[in-house]
Amino acid sequence: MTAVRTETKAEPAADTSFPPGFVWGAATAAYQVEGAAAEDGRTPSIWDTYSHTPGKVCNGDTGDIAADHYHRYRDDVALMKDLGLGAYRFSISWSRVQPTGRGPAVERGLDFYRRLTDELLEAGITPVATLYHWDLPQELEDAGGWPQRDTARRFADYAEIMGRALGDRVGLWTTLNEPWCSAFLGYGSGVHAPGRTDPVATLRAAHHLNLGHGLAVGALRTTLPASAQTSLTLNLHQVRPLTDSPEDAEAARRIDAVGNRIFTGPVLDGAYPEDLIADTAHLVDWAELVHDGDLEEISRPIDVLGVNYYAPTVVSAGDGTGTKNDGHGASEHSPWTGSDHVDFHLANDQLTAMNWAIDPSGLHTLLTGLAASHPQLPLMVTENGAAFDDYVSPEGRVNDPQRIAYLHAHLDAVRRAVADGADVRGYFLWSLLDNFEWSYGYSKRFGAVYVDYSTQRRIPKESAHWYAEVIRRNALPAAGQE
Ligand code: FCB
Repeated sequence: MTAVRTETKAEPAADTSFPPGFVWGAATAAYQVEGAAAEDGRTPSIWDTYSHTPGKVCNGDTGDIAADHYHRYRDDVALMKDLGLGAYRFSISWSRVQPTGRGPAVERGLDFYRRLTDELLEAGITPVATLYHWDLPQELEDAGGWPQRDTARRFADYAEIMGRALGDRVGLWTTLNEPWCSAFLGYGSGVHAPGRTDPVATLRAAHHLNLGHGLAVGALRTTLPASAQTSLTLNLHQVRPLTDSPEDAEAARRIDAVGNRIFTGPVLDGAYPEDLIADTAHLVDWAELVHDGDLEEISRPIDVLGVNYYAPTVVSAGDGTGTKNDGHGASEHSPWTGSDHVDFHLANDQLTAMNWAIDPSGLHTLLTGLAASHPQLPLMVTENGAAFDDYVSPEGRVNDPQRIAYLHAHLDAVRRAVADGADVRGYFLWSLLDNFEWSYGYSKRFGAVYVDYSTQRRIPKESAHWYAEVIRRNALPAAGQE
């Protein structure tokens, strides 16, 4: 009898690689890192005013100095090069280049961004510019801010200035970062600048942000070479009903409308959703707010949609007392205009230092959902990351295994989304550096690089070294190889 040869076939190693050409980056925003708040002609933005208002920001922190990126950008670019970053997503401080929000630009302000982008290009790093990461020139807020239609036109003029100044060196442009936060946290719950708490102003701001986006895409198109790409970055809420009751499904529908479709509707599909209009009809007259031609402007084609993801949004029907768990900061005023009775819950009890639940499946669901609803639209994860209570060890190292685990799990979710057909072109870690985390000030550290604010010394955390290795291999470490 011949012995039966049993073949122990090893399971093929799971593919952990990303598509060739996948863009690996890190992100920051002007007010969070630049500092130099009153240098070279810069005037206050709404975040300068807000952070200098007692009681608004944790520990009274401000962005006056921040990570001093304005003066240290050369060293920071060298750090990025060491990490092997392919791209750097930064934002432009509007009041640095156009101090009153109108009229001619200040050359000294533009020069900073010329120097920064030159330095990046020289280091072989692709600059990705965001025009608006929440820092409206204070003068424009004094004239009414985003609830005023004119602010959208001012934004388009500023976009044109920037397109002319940097169009020869920046190939990917983002108009707005997370307009949901600008409108709903800035004018609704008031936990962001300018700190207003007015539901009508909130919805008006949302429409004018959409309009500003569309007009800015148009303005950029008149100044940029045809090869340049335009985009918008949204913090899409991955909304989940707590139970499968019809009431919780209704809560999820409402939050999806006012959290997501208020932007994706007009921008990607050319119309505000009917259910959103119905939910908010007691607050605004949409027929009066939305002028003829607005939706055509807003739905101008974009080349890429940026997606920022941190945690899912779990909701139930309720009385609004659970709003405190929505992850957007405590306020007596709900940001969920027209749906402020909805309650919010944590998806699980594995939390970051922001008290945000760690749930990478939400990122996979978001990306594959967008791929299904808008199959022709390329996607980029423009922010993802986590704050933990980092500290420097006596040996001078910052050991952050929780951040490595977070990044690994979320990058794996991106990789799986790509395998499932989503056209995801890149990933930007939030953030390159520890920085001014809005109302939380410097108390929350999101950086891959630790910043000692007393000396401005930078120390790449263990996660930065881990990320550098992922970039080098264009792949995640296989199981057991970490
Ligand atoms: C996003 C912001 C970014 C940073 C992260 C943690 O909502 O775009 O500036 O604050 O959250």
